[in-house]
Amino acid sequence: MQRLLILETTCDETAAAVVTDELEVLASVVASQDELHKKYGGVVPEIASRAHVERILPVIDETLRRANLKPGDLAAVAVANTPGLAGSLVVGVAAAKALCLALDVPLIAVNHLQAHIYACRLAAGRDVFPCLGLIVSGGHSSLYHCRTPLEFDLLGGTIDDAAGEAFDKVASLLGLPFPGGPAMDRAAQQGNPKAFDLPRPLLDDPTRLDFSFSGLKTALRYRLCKPGETMPAQPLAPELISDLAASFTAAVVDCLWGKTALALRKTGLKTLCVGGGVAANSVLRARLQQECTTAGIELFIPPMRLCTDNAVMGAIAVERLKAGLFESLDLDAFPGLVRPASQK
Ligand code: KG4
Ligand code: ZN
Repeated sequence: MQRLLILETTCDETAAAVVTDELEVLASVVASQDELHKKYGGVVPEIASRAHVERILPVIDETLRRANLKPGDLAAVAVANTPGLAGSLVVGVAAAKALCLALDVPLIAVNHLQAHIYACRLAAGRDVFPCLGLIVSGGHSSLYHCRTPLEFDLLGGTIDDAAGEAFDKVASLLGLPFPGGPAMDRAAQQGNPKAFDLPRPLLDDPTRLDFSFSGLKTALRYRLCKPGETMPAQPLAPELISDLAASFTAAVVDCLWGKTALALRKTGLKTLCVGGGVAANSVLRARLQQECTTAGIELFIPPMRLCTDNAVMGAIAVERLKAGLFESLDLDAFPGLVRPASQK
């Protein structure tokens, strides 16, 4: 049996996990930085990278301790090197390279978005490929034709804000706490999704598998602010916040499902795998369940802890280990999804 250490530092979670080549999870640690970014209302990249530097070694030590392993027991080290915040990515990449050099084990690169989809494979406990992959995270909203765990073809994505980013920005407009997505989810549960008629950008265009959430966010701002204002002049009543959160969520979910349904029709795929932090949204989860049941689509959504950033989902590296897809020690970090040839 081979054991793999996986590192994840693409955004603001410092995470490590040990998995076996049979996909058994031996340990997983996620050090969240929410407390550090809270007062700024969003992730501050420089603060995130500095916190990764402080935390990466303790997180690795704790992960190995929980797995009851020594560094010498590892067969390989994997690291998410794309996409993400540049300063955050380089911390994980540097740590992984140093470990590989010291231990003389292979280095494996993980694409963070593909890892989000692979969380479905882990949660299912069986093969889920080929599938349509819907990734809805803080930085991405994309649809992929996932042919195998090693072959992902991009079908479409957001042309401006990601869904999670839009949730976070609207939450801040409504005066909800950071991180905005979960707060929006809670607020929306008390609200009326039909209270405000908000746009569904690009939904009517059957030629495109893209999303656009920036205008939707601005439409909501215009309901609350006078021209020239960027924030509402006074705090909003809780009922109004709930109605706005519910109406905004309904619009986002309509767009996400609309394009997902179109992609399912265009590709003929019968399996849908959803990943990323927004996959934790209760309205989205319920809608996907209901639509997929009606349409005869097999749906996989990981449990909450595997939706938001974690290192366990980087177990997609096991597929690369088995295929012998290793990286040299000059592996770079790619903030914007430009990938080395071996990372198709
Ligand atoms: O995948 P993730 O943990 O990090 C990135 O790779 O970006 O996604 C984080 C995003 C944040 O924008 C957060 O607000 C959103 O996921 N999120 C949610 C919920 N939980 C997290 N959005 C809507 N509803 C939720 N329940
Ligand atoms: Zn993510």
